[in-house]
Amino acid sequence: MQKFKVVVGADHGGFEYKKAVIDFLKSKNIDYIDVGTYSKDSCDYPLIANKAAEKILAGQAQRGVLICGTGIGMSIAANKIKGIRAALCSDTFSARASRAHNNANILCLGERVIGICLALDILDVWLKSDFEGGRHQKRVDMLE
Ligand code: RB5
Repeated sequence: MQKFKVVVGADHGGFEYKKAVIDFLKSKNIDYIDVGTYSKDSCDYPLIANKAAEKILAGQAQRGVLICGTGIGMSIAANKIKGIRAALCSDTFSARASRAHNNANILCLGERVIGICLALDILDVWLKSDFEGGRHQKRVDMLE
């Protein structure tokens, strides 16, 4: 697996999966930054998405994982930030394609939507997949 740092964030709806994602990253010796939330108290997902995006844009992390109840709020918030390409995935095919074709730098997951084993499988595939470049580069450039 390539060497990179992953920033991880969740709101209260994604709090349990954030812990599991961090355990997974630790088990693979992947460095991470935890931008919260740090309890199950209700909080606002746009703030967490912004914190994670800042880490990526500052070069302190190369990839991010954002989790909320559905993954939708996090993906909407993250995709409003220039330079962020967030992919909400509920299957491994999309996770692989989001890296290969879209060069997604953030993976969004919905804790209330998919089971933890699938979520970690998606994460594993997403982390291992590389951008293909080529014809996809032009399209990714157009996003900016
Ligand atoms: C929180 O209840 C929930 O709205 C949030 O986690 C997320 O699903 C929003 O998109």
